[in-house]
Amino acid sequence: ESTAAPYVPDRGGLRALEEASRGCRGCDLYRAASQTVFGAGPAPARLMFIGEQPGDREDLEGEPFVGPAGRLLDRALGDAGIDRSSAYLTNVVKHFKFVREERGKRRIHQKPNAAEIRACRPWLTAELQVVRPEIVVCLGATAAKSLLGSSFSVTADRGVLLDFPDVPELGSQRPRLALATVHPSSVVRAPDRRSAFQGLLADLEVVARA
Ligand code: URA
Repeated sequence: ESTAAPYVPDRGGLRALEEASRGCRGCDLYRAASQTVFGAGPAPARLMFIGEQPGDREDLEGEPFVGPAGRLLDRALGDAGIDRSSAYLTNVVKHFKFVREERGKRRIHQKPNAAEIRACRPWLTAELQVVRPEIVVCLGATAAKSLLGSSFSVTADRGVLLDFPDVPELGSQRPRLALATVHPSSVVRAPDRRSAFQGLLADLEVVARA
């Protein structure tokens, strides 16, 4: 079973985690990706946003949510009155997983599988322990199912503040609340982008008021 566990330092805070994450070989995704994309933001932070995995831009720049989905998220956060720089942003999986388009240069995002998500989990647990958010916002089904349970449905249960589930590794230090919404990249691709954006914004406004 692949796991990042042996690469995760048990002390030293965010900087130590980020530095160690650059050498992670806990699963095979490091082979094709350009670099590890660790979370970004302050610790502690009241809000933590969790996406799926870095995209093409994030892989090249080494920072989460700096591509098209990130720009859309920035706009939605701004409209909801949430200050991005005071929140911590990260992903369930820290390497970009992709296939190359036939003959083309474009790298096409592939969903991480369950083993890759499990392998990367020790990084997310360490981030939760150091950042100690009060509210975790899951962006999209991958993050929502991974944190809130495999039967969680973003379509059915988005935009609702929930008690953060009991996670043995987090003990009593766990976040108080969780909320799931759609992934910003689904808004970028939506046929009716305007209404998809309004939906994301409405969910973020629930977070802003919490
Ligand atoms: N999509 C994600 O889930 N995370 C990023 O960092 C960028 C795009």
